[in-house]
Amino acid sequence: MFNPNTITRFNNTETPFYYYDMEVLRQTLQACHIASAKYGFHVHYALKANFNPKVLDMIQSFGFGADCVSGGEVKAAIEHGFSNKQVVFAGVGKSDKEINLALDGDIFCFNVESVQELHIINDLAKAKNKTAKVAIRINPNVDAHTHHFITTGLDENKFGINTWQLDDVIIALRACSNIQFLGIHFHIGSQITDMEVYKSLCIRINEIQDWFEDHGFPVKILNAGGGLGVDYHNPDTNTISDFESYFKVFKDFLNVKPGQEVHFELGRALVAQCASLISRVLYVKNGQKKNFLVLDAGMTELIRPMLYQAYHEIENLTQHSKLKTQNLAYDVVGPICESTDCFRKDVELPESFRGDLIAIRTAGAYGEVMASGYNLRDRVQSVYSD
Ligand code: LLP
Repeated sequence: MFNPNTITRFNNTETPFYYYDMEVLRQTLQACHIASAKYGFHVHYALKANFNPKVLDMIQSFGFGADCVSGGEVKAAIEHGFSNKQVVFAGVGKSDKEINLALDGDIFCFNVESVQELHIINDLAKAKNKTAKVAIRINPNVDAHTHHFITTGLDENKFGINTWQLDDVIIALRACSNIQFLGIHFHIGSQITDMEVYKSLCIRINEIQDWFEDHGFPVKILNAGGGLGVDYHNPDTNTISDFESYFKVFKDFLNVKPGQEVHFELGRALVAQCASLISRVLYVKNGQKKNFLVLDAGMTELIRPMLYQAYHEIENLTQHSKLKTQNLAYDVVGPICESTDCFRKDVELPESFRGDLIAIRTAGAYGEVMASGYNLRDRVQSVYSD
């Protein structure tokens, strides 16, 4: 929901741009902070969801750690004031250069995704006369019940180490003198809204941590990853995800032993609702079968609908005095030379005209960060409420 002053400001700003509501971000971070602190849980913000500098600065100010998946993210986290002692680094394909950068930065923990990677980190740490702290990322084969394009914890996915390879992990850990085993890591998918999924994950984590302890490796860190979903259909009435229920599942079902720490890596739930993509109607094409609204934003600014069939609310922010009483159905499309460049089909909107402002909501996570320069388009700008 945008107030009239904000809409006036949009009217005077060149489109397209991401609009960040910093108050929504602040309230979301506060809710997460309170709900996690209640149980002493540690939250690392997954930078991949949004690494806009102002967003990072605010998240860092709440004391969250950082979850990174590239050397660039490790660097950005540290530059934006996240403590290196709170940086975790995951990813199936960490390059030697990235591992060295993280070793030089003395990060908290590598989330290791294969036995081969464990040996490489050990070799690189040995060359620097350092010890690398690691958690083993395990693929628990738990179905996240989310879109299959953003499911990561099934046997068919490339992520983590499968449970039948854990004997090899133990052999490698015994052989690697420059590795310190901290614990176990999981991340089974994104946009998870069914809390039963997390209950199943807890049960698997309990079994696996016992297995490690039985093999002589005490588990200090349990990292359950991220994935908590947001309400893409009701951004105004259900703005903040239910962090209370989310963390309570882990409190109730995870078997946390004395001295153990529980860690999370949330991305989407912290940043999705704080931003909208604001665009303008360039052309209205009325066809026999279809009406099209052609926007000045497309898949180069927000690719989620095209890549994951993702749903985003779409609103026309411009008020007209003489409108047809009934809404019309429009396919809301971008300007890119690709048929897939469509935000949504058959969107019910008031009759719309060239120059109208269109808001595509819940675009703060995996929006601006996934923008591209395809078609040699200008890089999308950002505007902030404060
Ligand atoms: N930890 C790891 C190891 C991850 O791979 C991810 C996300 C997260 C944490 C954070 O997950 P979140 O809390 O944001 O669900 N671009 C896709 C989502 C890809 C998620 C990648 N990994 C989208 O727009 O839906």
